[in-house]
Amino acid sequence: MEGGVISTEDAILSQVTRPDLRTIYTEGMAAIAAAADLASIEDTRVRFLGRKADLTTLLRSIPELPAEERPELGKYGNMIRKTLETALEERRIVVEAEELLHGLERDRIDVTLPGRKSPLGRLHLIAQTQREIEDIFIGMGYQIAEGPEVENDYYNFEALNTPADHPARSLHDTFFITDTVLLRTHTSPMQVRTMEKQAPPVHIIVPGKAYRRDSDATHTPMFHQCEGLVVDEGVTLADLKGTLETFVHAMFGADRKVRLRPHFFPFTEPSVEVDVSCIMCDGAGCRLCKKSGWLEILGAGMVDPNVFGFVGYDPEVYTGFAFGMGIERIAMLKHGVNDLRLFFENDLRFLRQF
Ligand code: DAH
Repeated sequence: MEGGVISTEDAILSQVTRPDLRTIYTEGMAAIAAAADLASIEDTRVRFLGRKADLTTLLRSIPELPAEERPELGKYGNMIRKTLETALEERRIVVEAEELLHGLERDRIDVTLPGRKSPLGRLHLIAQTQREIEDIFIGMGYQIAEGPEVENDYYNFEALNTPADHPARSLHDTFFITDTVLLRTHTSPMQVRTMEKQAPPVHIIVPGKAYRRDSDATHTPMFHQCEGLVVDEGVTLADLKGTLETFVHAMFGADRKVRLRPHFFPFTEPSVEVDVSCIMCDGAGCRLCKKSGWLEILGAGMVDPNVFGFVGYDPEVYTGFAFGMGIERIAMLKHGVNDLRLFFENDLRFLRQF
């Protein structure tokens, strides 16, 4: 407290004779000292300095007092009022600081506590591989088409130049739903659906699921394929080879070699199977490529004119190529996965590696 205030206090206690003033003063100072929070500071203010406080009433009554009482009450009454006000303000500052401190202490956050981990998912290797394939072909100007997994016999076989009695049908191990409705055995039906809807030029890929009644180390009843179809005037087998080389180099590295082997598919003529030089032994011959130096990655060919007949494209004007790859196979070769079933067992120890 400042020197002046101390001398005021001294003066009050030594000079004030009125018992009511002395009581107000000592009780007021005691209450202020005891006020421990802002609420009791306010209570104390109302009680000793408010409009209905004893001191206020006393000071207001001065004009009605006998003349000899007025000087003492006027002088020391106001002095007491000022002293109480000052003491109360000082107490308020102390209590406010204390409350702030307690608040900070109470609401303290330990920023060094480790946070709660929310597990982060990731794309399945098949989804990742599908997106990689899509990115490569989008980069070459292709569009992505998607179609139904529950398909008609017409699109899955008939319009792909595979009539009911065709021997190729038996290779497909089809899941039939009715005599004419089935789970598509490949993504090729989207070739027909796309060409039905639009005139050339066509540049599409069709990623998606396909189904066959087959289950062992190298076959699962559901698997993924990515179809490709290009139709325009003057498209040749050389375009097919160049396109697939570009794809293989982007997917497996610039030093991979590509070779086409004659094959048969009902919807392409000529048809080929496409091999890539073995990613393990680089063509020298190893267990993965069965000593051949080559790994088969997809089937392809020039669109059979009969297929154009089903969709109303003029085979005298247009030619095209098509290809179809297994996404699981691409992922297995790229990442050295040796069992197809790993993809579908949902073992996180396997899936987390990618
Ligand atoms: N659809 C064939 C299959 O599932 C793969 C295929 C071969 C697709 C040649 C094609 C193609 O587009 O031209 O085995």
